[in-house]
Amino acid sequence: MNTEILRIDEKNADSPVETEKLRRAASVINGGGLVVFPTETVYGLGASALDFSAVKKIYEVKGRPCDNPLIAHVADARDICEYAEITQTAERIIGEFLPAPLTLVLKKKNSALDACCSLDTVAIRVPKNKAARKLIGLSGAPVAAPSANLSGKPSHTDPEYIIRDFDGMVDMIVCGENCEIGLESTVISFNADGSLNILRSGHITREMLSGYKICESAPELRGAPRSPGMKYTHYSPDAPLYLLLGSEAEITEFVKKEMRRKKAGFLCFDEFLGHFGENENIAAIGARGDLAAQAKNLFGALNRLDALGLDAIYSIMPERTGIGEAVYSRLAKASGGKVINV
Ligand code: TXA
Ligand code: MG
Repeated sequence: MNTEILRIDEKNADSPVETEKLRRAASVINGGGLVVFPTETVYGLGASALDFSAVKKIYEVKGRPCDNPLIAHVADARDICEYAEITQTAERIIGEFLPAPLTLVLKKKNSALDACCSLDTVAIRVPKNKAARKLIGLSGAPVAAPSANLSGKPSHTDPEYIIRDFDGMVDMIVCGENCEIGLESTVISFNADGSLNILRSGHITREMLSGYKICESAPELRGAPRSPGMKYTHYSPDAPLYLLLGSEAEITEFVKKEMRRKKAGFLCFDEFLGHFGENENIAAIGARGDLAAQAKNLFGALNRLDALGLDAIYSIMPERTGIGEAVYSRLAKASGGKVINV
């Protein structure tokens, strides 16, 4: 398949030139094609959410298990009520946050989004990224889009890695900037008593949702996972990934020893760089206290280390407050829970 690669200037999404490019991308979606596009969280692999055969192609290209449903992206929060029942709490959330890196799992109102999800619920998101919203608006239909990565592998925030993975497999790749947030949207669902569940952590943090009653029991610890995607391995580089617990000095010593014994990579805070010489196997994701930088840089760093064919990747343990919780959750999943007390 010939993949058209289109570079857009996201900041000028409303200019005539960029509008024309987004119109072309929208016409590919309308015609049943697959388009990779940037959002504020990660790149998405999009198709018309109303088109069963287009959505089926998303699953094939990603190698995604067919029981893991997709998020339907709409251009405007007012479009949500066309497809889903909006509870009082959901209405408050919509008014307070959207558009945002936040996905709402709601009860379906009709069968329009059955291609995205065969359950009686559907996950809906209104992206904050203006170019993404414009693309969805121009396509005139909700856009089904999982993260644009091969199933089980780290998500993508950098268009160059997307071209490596998807050139020849999709109709079009819309390349914008590196995604500003860097981690997938927060996913929430709603309970009958007005409380909500955080099914996936993200930029909209628990602290930001503190005005709402949050049901605390971790969904993945209950009998059936409430978010089907949670039961699958995620974000994993080819090399085994280990999270390290210890002081900066202990971790430095451990990683140096491992680097002498094998082809080891190190995903670290900027503060560690001074302890090592120039070394391509080291990827810093931000200063220890800069949680937003860590979120933005995490997937780029994981993908870069993954491409080096390493024997093992060691990683610092991020601080679990604010968006640090989301950084931690991605690393915990990528490592499959492997932690070394150095
Ligand atoms: O930031 C994002 O959300 C990105 C961009 C492209 O918008 N998309 C994304 O999609 O991360 P995906 O498919 O990689 O992750 C969606 C998650 C999966 O864990 C899936 O199981 C869950 O949302 N999900 C989808 N529909 C659901 C539903 N009806 N109920 C519960 N969980 C659902
Ligand atoms: Mg994903």
